[in-house]
Amino acid sequence: MIVRHASEQDCSAIATIYNHAVVHTAAIWNDKTVDAENRVEWLALRRNAGYPVLVMEDDGAVVGYASFGDWRAFDGFRHTVEHSVYVHPDHQGKGIGRRLMVQLIDEARAIGKHVMVAGIETQNVASIALHQSLGFTITAQMPQVGTKFGRWLDLTFMQRQLDERSEPDALG
Ligand SMILES: CC(C)(COP(=O)(O)OP(=O)(O)OC[C@H]1O[C@@H](n2cnc3c(N)ncnc32)[C@H](O)[C@@H]1OP(=O)(O)O)[C@@H](O)C(=O)NCCC(=O)NCCS
Repeated sequence: MIVRHASEQDCSAIATIYNHAVVHTAAIWNDKTVDAENRVEWLALRRNAGYPVLVMEDDGAVVGYASFGDWRAFDGFRHTVEHSVYVHPDHQGKGIGRRLMVQLIDEARAIGKHVMVAGIETQNVASIALHQSLGFTITAQMPQVGTKFGRWLDLTFMQRQLDERSEPDALG
């Protein structure tokens, strides 16, 4: 198994993993599925922003992916990113989510990001445990800010600081 940067050829597999989460889980608060072309556009947007899309490849197949984007679209939030991590349902619980996250954290630090944020549905025990094990802490709980499957969804924000800079750098 290797973690590598995604290419356009991976976008069909990325769409399959994403769509499973859309249809069967409250991990993504979207109702519409996407096709590979949609994910190619998403990949281009991430690349143009200078942000990585990582995939885990196992025996030639993409079994998980992770990425981050800006947390909020205001200048002052530019050192903070919000990420997502998804593992194919047949491959969960094998350490793939952790490996993707470890590399994603390294890549965020390497481009000078200061904080990573995860927005997690409060009942998503696996994701909350994964993030706790990676040093993320819960910093906000927002009851009933979402909806899916005919019920309200609560949002838990977890965050991890990536470096010990006391001040943003001169360019920041
Ligand atoms: C959440 C998710 C990314 C975790 O990835 P994974 O590859 O299954 O997790 P890993 O095997 O790397 O496990 C890493 C740690 O996560 C936690 N964890 C994973 N699955 C868990 C589960 N079902 N219950 C409790 N903790 C779990 C554990 O702390 C685990 O460490 P351990 O194996 O040392 O106990 C994956 O289950 C997934 O894609 N779920 C659906 C989509 C989703 O919820 N994405 C996150 C949105 S915020």
